[in-house]
Amino acid sequence: MKNLTSKTKKRLLIGLPLLVIAGIFLFMQYERTSTTHYCGTTCHIMKIPYEASFHSVHRETNGVGCKDCHIPHDNILEQIAYKGYSGARDYYKNTFAPPDVLHTKEWSEKILQRNCLRCHATLVARINTSDGLQCFECHRGEPHDTPIQPFSSQAVHTPIR
Ligand code: HEC
Ligand code: HEC
Ligand code: HEC
Repeated sequence: MKNLTSKTKKRLLIGLPLLVIAGIFLFMQYERTSTTHYCGTTCHIMKIPYEASFHSVHRETNGVGCKDCHIPHDNILEQIAYKGYSGARDYYKNTFAPPDVLHTKEWSEKILQRNCLRCHATLVARINTSDGLQCFECHRGEPHDTPIQPFSSQAVHTPIR
């Protein structure tokens, strides 16, 4: 600090707290836009997946929110990138091209699979998961629909291979 001119010191004195405040603000927005309530109610295309999740064991009151399955939890950089990408895509679709059925893209599928494994690793430890089958290809009802509902009426869709 000794070699700094008083002007630089003044700038640092004002700039640093501003930077900290901006950081806290950004962090709070990041958290706010990750809540199940925000994700489920901001866009009307999320109404059906949101309401269906109330009937699933994977519901918020059981400690499982949208973000627990839909964003990466093992890589913070990928988490930020994916959150930005999928958020922007959902906003676009919601505003300009509301789809009848929400299709799961490849990136989304990979993240979903990693999250199923993250929480259920102990249970599936002795099952061979390297055959390329996604958990949700069998557990199709989790958490967005009941398996007894015809696929044609489901709001989210996994292609059947
Ligand atoms: C238990 C994990 C889990 C939770 C919790 C969960 N989802 Fe999903 N979600 C899935 C799976 C699995 C699919 C793919 C299923 C399919 O396509 O049949 C999916 C698909 C979707 C899709 C279709 C498009 C895409 O991005 O893949 C949307 C939209 C969606 N979910 C929204 C939500 C919302 C909103 C919440 C919170 C209310 C939520 N999900 C909570 C597992 C989850
Ligand atoms: C954040 C942790 C978490 C994630 C992610 C998660 N689950 Fe679960 N899952 C739970 C909890 C908690 C339960 C209820 C307690 C239990 O039975 O272990 C549960 C229960 C289940 C059940 C039993 C269903 C029932 O009706 O009793 C199945 C099947 C299941 N999960 C499959 C999946 C699949 C497939 C995925 C990925 C799409 C997934 N889970 C992602 C935490 C998670
Ligand atoms: C080939 C189909 C298939 C695949 C793939 C599959 N499961 Fe299952 N799983 C079943 C069946 C069948 C049961 C027993 C019936 C039931 O409870 O739904 C079961 C049971 C479970 C249960 C216990 C359900 C309960 O009622 O307590 C959990 C949790 C679970 N699976 C998670 C997963 C996860 C995580 C993956 C991905 C690694 C996965 N499963 C992949 C077919 C599958």
